[in-house]
Amino acid sequence: MSISAIIAAAGSGERFGAGIPKALIQLVDRTLLEHAVSSLAPVVDQIIVTAPAGFEKQISEIVGDGITVVTGGATRSASVRSGLAVATGEYLLVHDAARALASSELASRVIAELKSGQIAVVPAIAVVDTIKVVNVQGFVESTPDRATLVSIQTPQGFNTAALRDAHASQSEASDDAALIEANGGKVKVIVGEERALKITTPADLNTALGFLDLGRDIRTGIGTDAHAFGQGRPMWLAGLHWPNEEGVEGHSDGDVAAHAVCDALFAATQLGDLGSNFGTDRPEYAGASGTQLMKETYSLVVQAGFRISNVTVQIIGNRPKIGKRRAEAIAAISAALGGASISVSATTTDGMGLTGQGKGIAAIATALVYKQ
Ligand code: CTP
Ligand code: MG
Repeated sequence: MSISAIIAAAGSGERFGAGIPKALIQLVDRTLLEHAVSSLAPVVDQIIVTAPAGFEKQISEIVGDGITVVTGGATRSASVRSGLAVATGEYLLVHDAARALASSELASRVIAELKSGQIAVVPAIAVVDTIKVVNVQGFVESTPDRATLVSIQTPQGFNTAALRDAHASQSEASDDAALIEANGGKVKVIVGEERALKITTPADLNTALGFLDLGRDIRTGIGTDAHAFGQGRPMWLAGLHWPNEEGVEGHSDGDVAAHAVCDALFAATQLGDLGSNFGTDRPEYAGASGTQLMKETYSLVVQAGFRISNVTVQIIGNRPKIGKRRAEAIAAISAALGGASISVSATTTDGMGLTGQGKGIAAIATALVYKQ
């Protein structure tokens, strides 16, 4: 008695407005589609993803081997039919990639109902708003009793043959259960989940974030570095070379921003500091560039089981002027740190101190990380 799942992911995400298909929007560490796949994978035997035309290859690479990717249709119902054509299971779950956080437990409860003989099963939660039927002139026609209304979610479960029958007439509906209802079939309602909300707008993404258990192990760290300017040295700062600027003294390339970033990451993850990781007892790092050190730090952070939420670095000095190359600096640091979210700012110190007198340059960084 095998179970297939179709994940409908062929929508364009018009209302979200990201300019990419909604299923490919990132929620913390993964796309919405990957969240949906990881909830269903433990409880089904076959997963079929319906991709927007032109995105088949990209989606195949994202979801990996063992998952069938088919081209979706112009409507959700048409997309489900493309999936149905290749579904092999006796039972079938139909799920929206947009309901990325529906749990494996919910899918298991749907499957349990199918195994006990139901032909169609839908999760539902109570509606909180009063729902009215409104006519095309913009006037209320009726107000159904709220106690009889529920909001329907996915994954919905079906006897595959029954759903094939229901789709045979090429009908359109906003969910699959409606087609079973139209065929006179019984649809069993079970208790749904708040976290199975359909992510439709950017605000929904924030709500979804609240369901992810990120609060348990978030850590912050700080790092600083300073170097004096040195005659005839090239200037490296924030992973970039700055032609026509005097560099700083030191054995390394003297990239104070990169060094502060590394120390902030080591502090946040309690992995020591620059000295303990790349110091004199590790001769292979002598003369390493700031970019190399950030890359190496990133790999240590990931090996220790952490992900970077964001990193900020502030450069303190009279020169170089950062503003014009801020975007480049952010891109360089982000590339070294696996695509992490980065901010780069700069300030002078009103003529005071080592940096204010133009003797050198300093940087302060913070990092926010979380444990996977
Ligand atoms: N879907 C699909 N094929 C379509 C339309 C929608 O597979 N032709 C999928 C979506 O990818 C989504 C689910 O059906 O996972 C529910 O649709 P919806 O939330 O409306 O997503 P979009 O259609 O992408 O969003 P919008 O309506 O805002 O464009
Ligand atoms: Mg849609």
